[in-house]
Amino acid sequence: MYTLYVIDTIGDHHILKFKIFEYKNLMELLINRLYDDIGACKGRGLCGTCHIRINSSIVPFKFPEGIEKRTLFNQLEYYSNSRLACQVLLDKQLDNSRIEIIGGD
Ligand code: FES
Repeated sequence: MYTLYVIDTIGDHHILKFKIFEYKNLMELLINRLYDDIGACKGRGLCGTCHIRINSSIVPFKFPEGIEKRTLFNQLEYYSNSRLACQVLLDKQLDNSRIEIIGGD
């Protein structure tokens, strides 16, 4: 089991355990465990409601490209570690990461 530290959209802190590829992507894990109101476009990278920030001291995450980059640039807030949770695979690189759910505009 791997561990994520998550701050949800109302500021509550959670510790989530997960198995590699237990869900199709990080967004599905967050929805299934936290019932947060994200994922309006069902993971197509278009709505931005699954906007998160990832803080990991272990592995540098890849920068968003293509449609993910375009969607993130259209958000009111955009950070150097912004990602769309629907575009992040649930792999072991996420272990011990700190995720903050920003949500969409
Ligand atoms: S679910 Fe819409 S951008 Fe991720």
